[in-house]
Amino acid sequence: MTTELGRRTVLASACGIACGAALTGCAGYGPGRATPATPGTPAAAAGGGAIPLAAVADIPVGGGVVVAAQDTVVTQPVEGEFKAFTATCTHQGCLVATVTDTINCVCHGSTFAVADGSVVAGPAPAPLAEKAITVADGAVLLA
Ligand code: FES
Repeated sequence: MTTELGRRTVLASACGIACGAALTGCAGYGPGRATPATPGTPAAAAGGGAIPLAAVADIPVGGGVVVAAQDTVVTQPVEGEFKAFTATCTHQGCLVATVTDTINCVCHGSTFAVADGSVVAGPAPAPLAEKAITVADGAVLLA
């Protein structure tokens, strides 16, 4: 039996260094590299109600990171343009697991576009819903 703590520990290992997965449960990957999502940025300390998701530097261009604790996937389709979507797959509700050049749900193989969350390959019947974000002080935050 896998405990919640055990599952998070596994996710932390998958994320690599300083992922903060014990808090965020991130599972982010960009093209060719694992990417930690570390919300421990100056923006996180700034307060103001916005929820930090990831440091801009940790979001690969053309890829993204999954921030499981916030049910969010953050992408950077082109340099300097950030998007966020729900991380809950529209097929049967699994959390999307990775981001390569697509957002990937490993439960049944659906993939979604990093630019707009649209379905690239099913069985997912609908796109991932976009979330409002802001970018401040080198971090992406839920608005
Ligand atoms: S729940 Fe994502 S593909 Fe089935």
